[in-house]
Amino acid sequence: MLPNELPHEELLVRRGRRSGITIAVAVHSTALGPALGGCRIWRYPSWTDGVADALRLAEAMTAKAAIAGLAHGGGKTVAALPPGTVLDVDGRRALLLDIGDAVDALGGRYWTGPDVGTGPADMAVVGERTERVFCRPEADGGTGDSSPATADGVLAALEVLGRRLDADRGLAGLRVAMSGLGHVGTLVARRLAAAGARLVVSDIDPTRRAVAQECGADWADPEEVLVADVDVLVPAALGGQLTPELVDRLRCRAVAGPANNQLAADAVADLLHARGIVWAPDYLVSAGGVVGTTAREIDGLGPHEARARVRGIGETLDALLDEAAERGESPHRTAQRRITERLSAVPA
Ligand code: PHE
Repeated sequence: MLPNELPHEELLVRRGRRSGITIAVAVHSTALGPALGGCRIWRYPSWTDGVADALRLAEAMTAKAAIAGLAHGGGKTVAALPPGTVLDVDGRRALLLDIGDAVDALGGRYWTGPDVGTGPADMAVVGERTERVFCRPEADGGTGDSSPATADGVLAALEVLGRRLDADRGLAGLRVAMSGLGHVGTLVARRLAAAGARLVVSDIDPTRRAVAQECGADWADPEEVLVADVDVLVPAALGGQLTPELVDRLRCRAVAGPANNQLAADAVADLLHARGIVWAPDYLVSAGGVVGTTAREIDGLGPHEARARVRGIGETLDALLDEAAERGESPHRTAQRRITERLSAVPA
């Protein structure tokens, strides 16, 4: 469903002239700097659902950039494939060129990058039509896959939660349930396993069970994993999983993961808080990709310095959770206040 007011600065919707596919580029805010946000290629029941998703995801990118301290705003691209569409090599290339044209039409107010359904090789093709693209392969002048940086940020956040939940125990022995083993989820699972966490994982794609085996993790149904009896639930699939009904049934002590837009509605953050479950805001936990990529591709930092900046997500989270605890409110409320303050400090 589309909102009845458009809080976004700009929305471009067009049918790709080569691919025929509906492309939506939503620019939520450029108050802090050019908007950035990845390009999602995904199937939607109707193109309007794709537009609605682009709007929601763009807004989340504004929050992500603002809470992470970046001089950027939020945007997102969604290419909405009709149900059942399978792109062949030529069809995919046509779509990526159409996406590049759409991004370029925003005249620098928005920069794209990879997201669900796209990766560095795709960004190289997008880059044939626009300069405003992050994460091209190194051979094409970019810094490649942003998933390892996103995973670094998630790990930094989980270390903080491990310490806060269990007086300095950290990740070793932490009981973690993970929903989703995509690009980022797989990296997080491997790193958690290596750090000695006890894992139960799931994915809608049964072939991902191989990752569970490799990590020595238990495998569960996607529904089951959400209500596992663990310390931390890590949402790493698509958004909207945290519904009021689910919150009633959760058996974890904290929720922190890289999936964008985890809350089915803002009010769910208060329900989590009322149940004493710490929700680390997804827009902070998942910020490693944009923090690391902008550090390297805009600020020219080397991999080590960029990584240190990404790990700063842990400190930001720690301070946020302290402030939320002092105020007796959900971390989401504290974060929203900080974001509003940052955005409103900018002259219009
Ligand atoms: N998929 C990334 C996110 O949701 C988007 C991104 C990564 C954009 C890297 C630019 C560079 O945050």
